[in-house]
Amino acid sequence: MTFVVTENCIKCKFTDCVDVCPVDCFREGPNFLVIDPDECIDCTLCEPECPANAIFSEDELPSGQEIFLELNAKLSKEWPVITEVKAPLPDAEEWNGKQAKIDLLEK
Ligand code: SF4
Ligand code: F3S
Repeated sequence: MTFVVTENCIKCKFTDCVDVCPVDCFREGPNFLVIDPDECIDCTLCEPECPANAIFSEDELPSGQEIFLELNAKLSKEWPVITEVKAPLPDAEEWNGKQAKIDLLEK
């Protein structure tokens, strides 16, 4: 089992999630974070911290978000570890809740 970062993180990247992870399993891309499924211990701490409600357990992924299980697994092997909170992306509040952001994911 792992937790998964889903679409609404894209172009927001609030990073509050990073602060609570006890095993440093978040990885950072240009406009999105992912969780390394090989490191996640299913502690649940990150899920309520995300202002964009973008984090779900893999067995509770909302409909249409299933692709993010694979994307987290893949991108977590390519992106560097992030362990400290930083400022959200400039227009994070405006992008929070926007639909169909997957095409804007920068790899
Ligand atoms: Fe880290 Fe726990 Fe979230 Fe997994 S569930 S990413 S271990 S904070
Ligand atoms: Fe993304 Fe939410 Fe973390 S927007 S960076 S998953 S706090």
